[in-house]
Amino acid sequence: MKDPKVLNEKVVDVPLRNIHKHDVVIVGTGLAGLWAAIECKKAGLDTACMTKLSMPQRSHSIAAQGGTAASLGNLEEDYWEWHMFDTVKGSDFLADQDAAEILAKDAITIVREYEHMGAPFSRTPDGLIAQRKFGGHVKDFGRGGPVLRACYAADRTGHVLLHTLWQKALELGVRFYTEMFAISLITDGPKCAGVVTWDIKSGGLHAFKAKATLIATGGYGRAWKITATAYSYTADGQYMALRAGIPLEDMEFFQFHPTGLFDRGILMTEGCRGEGGYLINDLGERFMKNYAPEKMELAPRDIVSRAITSEIEAGRGINGGPYIYLDIRHLGAEIINTRLPQIREISIKFAGVDPIHEPIPIVPTAHYSMGGIPTDIDGRVWYDGKSQIFSGLYAAGECACVSVHGANRLGCNSTLDASVFGRRCGIAIVKDFANLEHLPLEEDSAKMAKEEIEFILNQKGSIRPEEIRNELQTGMQNYVAVFRDEKGLLKMVSIIEDMHKKMKDMFVSDKSLTYNTTLMEAMELRHLIAAAEAVTYGALNRTESRGAHARRDYPKRDDENWLKHTLYFRDESGFRFDYKEVKITRFFPEERKY
Ligand code: FUM
Repeated sequence: MKDPKVLNEKVVDVPLRNIHKHDVVIVGTGLAGLWAAIECKKAGLDTACMTKLSMPQRSHSIAAQGGTAASLGNLEEDYWEWHMFDTVKGSDFLADQDAAEILAKDAITIVREYEHMGAPFSRTPDGLIAQRKFGGHVKDFGRGGPVLRACYAADRTGHVLLHTLWQKALELGVRFYTEMFAISLITDGPKCAGVVTWDIKSGGLHAFKAKATLIATGGYGRAWKITATAYSYTADGQYMALRAGIPLEDMEFFQFHPTGLFDRGILMTEGCRGEGGYLINDLGERFMKNYAPEKMELAPRDIVSRAITSEIEAGRGINGGPYIYLDIRHLGAEIINTRLPQIREISIKFAGVDPIHEPIPIVPTAHYSMGGIPTDIDGRVWYDGKSQIFSGLYAAGECACVSVHGANRLGCNSTLDASVFGRRCGIAIVKDFANLEHLPLEEDSAKMAKEEIEFILNQKGSIRPEEIRNELQTGMQNYVAVFRDEKGLLKMVSIIEDMHKKMKDMFVSDKSLTYNTTLMEAMELRHLIAAAEAVTYGALNRTESRGAHARRDYPKRDDENWLKHTLYFRDESGFRFDYKEVKITRFFPEERKY
């Protein structure tokens, strides 16, 4: 084998291949991006959507299983005010309540719109949209039991919603660019002129000029070893924002979904518990009675994930091992085959377990980022995180922080957030459009992206990206997961510092410009490290426990000092925090019990 250092002598020059011009450019083709695209195109704007994936239908929204929350009241009494309360309480009172109100109210319209576009929801015997129970969604401002609120299509809800929007966007004539990896924003002070991308197919850079640019790139679950998220979930949008000087909000709050398939992490929908599934430890106990005696398995995710982790740590995992059981056998073959067919298929294929006959081994899995790029309630990005608009730049979906989920998101509020705020963002772009302009493209617009790629390809190091990625994922899994403490977080800080050094000694063996997946992975790794850094420093900084941020050394919520959002700024010289107030309109913080 040749010495890698010799191979590395070749100097690669990355060309700027093309300049495109559109009214609106949307980075990301999940639910948020597609909703915005549909609204912009309907208003006659020349709208382009891009994805680094081979086709938009592979966007991670496709993986959403259990449903979309909306107080339709199809099967029993329900009101948007209850939904709003549950969202705020679920967030451990950190959600901005103006946003939570919009989410709960607009949920009803958005589900109707999906229905009118032809989304094939499961149906009640009367032909209404079927609804199931989900964690933290209850009746009567928390006083009642679980409510039937999650509108579902078996356990493939994200799949049907994404395909519905994709077909609509095609029908309207939205322009799609696939295998186009967004690398950097084109900016002029706090104004956005578009985005520079790496063309995965042909190699080389493309500059996209636009009056409005929307980041809708999703999350970064791939920073952890056990995750329910797609390989493509690598903080690409968050990284672009940070490099444009925009802070990230509330990054310390990252959700672990309680039930990922052991030890793959694949989502085993909360719909299993919504349909009546149990969680069982090695003693055969439904241990949730010790953690959330009223809501049991249908407590919010932060609580259930902590309960499972505590059982495993106490040696009550199955056979003393690092997993417990999700048992749905008692639901019977009919319900499993009609409402949870994908769960059955995945369990059989990936764990060799047929849930009709055997319990499913599960473990909490990295799932969702509550934090992200700070926006107003219409998706306009704040460049100072709280009051100054970054003109022409928008964000929606998981990469954004409206903030509607605060410290912990309720199940079924994610497809909802992406849909409601993706659509609002599209409407806002149309409204703002007359005041937006095509900024002149400076000669060096692509410089940042070009330097980044050339740096990676021309490095003369010896460490492969996958080695560094493994360190990142193992560190995050061990020290920045369901529980945290200062000692572990400081260990992660030293791993991060070490990774930064190693990134300078990285070696990418494939020097080609076309379909260079190693190059892509190296770039994604850089994005993931930036996100992991924001999560870790944020977690170290926030000396309380709230929602998904559970500090063993600070086990209590501390409203006096920490009822506030965190803003994390990062540049070459280091990082700093700023804070902003939580918007409280209807529900004042109270003790959070289930
Ligand atoms: O469990 C699930 O089906 C996931 C839903 C969600 O994250 O909202």
